Amino acid sequence: MSYQQYQPYTPVDDRYNKMTYRRCGRSGLKLPVISLGLWHNFGDITTFGVQQKILRTAFDSGITHFDLANNYGPPYGEAERNFGEHMKRDWHTYRDELVISTKAGFGMWKGPYGDNGSRKYLIASIDQSLKRMNLEYVDIFYHHRPDNGTPIEETMGALYDIVKSGKALYAGISNYNPDQTRRAILYMKDMGMHMLIHQPNYNMFNRSIEHGLIDVVREEGVGIMAFAPLAGGRLTGRYLNGIPEDSRAIHDPRFLCASDINEELLKTIRALNAVAERRGQTLAQLALVWTLRNPVVTSALIGASKPEQVAENVKALDNMNLSEEELNEIDAILANR
Ligand SMILES: NC(=O)c1ccc[n+]([C@@H]2O[C@H](COP(=O)([O-])OP(=O)(O)OC[C@H]3O[C@@H](n4cnc5c(N)ncnc54)[C@H](OP(=O)(O)O)[C@@H]3O)[C@@H](O)[C@H]2O)c1
Repeated sequence: MSYQQYQPYTPVDDRYNKMTYRRCGRSGLKLPVISLGLWHNFGDITTFGVQQKILRTAFDSGITHFDLANNYGPPYGEAERNFGEHMKRDWHTYRDELVISTKAGFGMWKGPYGDNGSRKYLIASIDQSLKRMNLEYVDIFYHHRPDNGTPIEETMGALYDIVKSGKALYAGISNYNPDQTRRAILYMKDMGMHMLIHQPNYNMFNRSIEHGLIDVVREEGVGIMAFAPLAGGRLTGRYLNGIPEDSRAIHDPRFLCASDINEELLKTIRALNAVAERRGQTLAQLALVWTLRNPVVTSALIGASKPEQVAENVKALDNMNLSEEELNEIDAILANR
């Protein structure tokens, strides 16, 4: 990555008037209802200047939370390394206004100690992440995915010690099912620590958390960081009129490719787009309002390849109410998929 010459940055004064902040479960931490993830577009594919504009637009819109993981890139680690450079340039002065998270749990380095949920992996990984990001601590450290091969006591014990050591302020889990979630929360509780947050996939196309997980986190006072609320771009206007050359489906088809944009998808997103238009919103804005309709969802964790997308998405807050009729109409469209 080549770093451009530094262009000084002063955030806009009224940024906190533009955002709504929700309390994260039973905790003292408030999070913006829209958070920004650095999974795509912060590796070596996107220029440093575009990354900088995306981050600045987000913060100027009141987005105080940036989400990373050890393996975000490509290549692995590159998003954290680039964020470390952004940190030095733009964000060191604003560190106390930001909530920065990272994770470990997927394969990160070779050999038996760079994957899954062992204490050996998690503690080495947080140390590496802090170095790459030029940080003394992260606000939230997540175990990225459940690991049935490691006793839950070991994984939760590592999260507990990472928080106790001051390398993270809060602990979280991601992609855990309802049973795994309850067990993890209870182990943390036994040690005297509250699990802050769960990060599951949640959007109109994946409603699996409505079958058990939401009940568990609500009962236990744990927040939800709903990742990929736009289904990687499918729940936006991106693919309504063809597949643009600069879209994820073309330039980074690791998880969404051109063949996913089929007639069946188009029929659904055209119908959802008609609901959005009647509300005076874009499809992306409607998808965010829908994801946030239940207050147990603390925040919708978006990605963006352009600053304009962030600006458009934040305008979802102008109309956050969904009527019973609109919800029923959306349910009917989704049931027909
Ligand atoms: N815990 C986990 O296992 C896990 C897994 C996946 C993601 N995540 C987290 O969730 C974050 C978001 O994931 P995601 O990027 O898949 O989320 P997403 O918000 O569902 O999709 C983001 C993509 O949608 C498109 N987009 C966004 N706003 C748009 C707009 N207004 N108009 C048109 N297109 C728009 C862009 O695609 P184009 O690139 O085509 O412009 C953008 O890259 C990640 O960065 C990561 O932090 C966590």
